[in-house]
Amino acid sequence: MTNLSPHNWLDWAVQPPYLHPPYTSTVKRSPRSSLIPLGQSLAELTGPKFGEGDIHRLDNDLTKNSVQDGEPLGERIIVNGRLLDDSGKPIPNSLIEVWQANAAGRYWHKKDQHNAPLDPNFHGSGRVLTNKNGVYRFTTIRPGAYPWPNHYNAWRPSHIHFSVFGVNFLQRMVTQMYFPNDPLLSLDPIYNSTPNEAARQQLIAIYDHEVTQPNWALGFRFDIVVCGPRQTPFE
Ligand SMILES: [Fe+2]
Repeated sequence: MTNLSPHNWLDWAVQPPYLHPPYTSTVKRSPRSSLIPLGQSLAELTGPKFGEGDIHRLDNDLTKNSVQDGEPLGERIIVNGRLLDDSGKPIPNSLIEVWQANAAGRYWHKKDQHNAPLDPNFHGSGRVLTNKNGVYRFTTIRPGAYPWPNHYNAWRPSHIHFSVFGVNFLQRMVTQMYFPNDPLLSLDPIYNSTPNEAARQQLIAIYDHEVTQPNWALGFRFDIVVCGPRQTPFE
């Protein structure tokens, strides 16, 4: 029988638990008491809504939205996919925010002191709205792997962070997209905190030759399901 959270929409057969000791940060941050559901008012369930006016024209191109003096370094990629509800119905006009390390595996953040170069032409953040068919698409640089202090010789597999607003403002979900055939995936406690192999596979983008553009960029597809039996694992 499926074990549902107090919010009644997270399926713990596929979602990572709050406490996963191999991912050491969860030991301190996971809740010690039962969660208390908060009531939702009509205003929260119906708005605010995002629209084209909230998006800058370069927000969906991370290779251009922070350029100083040239092209960012690395392998240019196009990521696209659909945002879906539990019945497979596309969710239009939803805001998706993304952030990531640069090609050398370094974040544009003062706390990231990894000994790898910053790229002055790549800050690694963007956002995009899904269209009327629930489809999103953005251009970026394939992120590099980076070390982290979770355990000895720990390296995060290449990934892009996603924050997704669902059918209303209260459905904000955060997840990570990985790349196919990455040897670091099987060693990664965050990826492995998702308990179900089929659900873990949902976190890996698929190479998309239809989206790949000649002499320009490789394409990847990453569909996101916000609820239901095929729900994407979230953090
Ligand atoms: Fe990251």
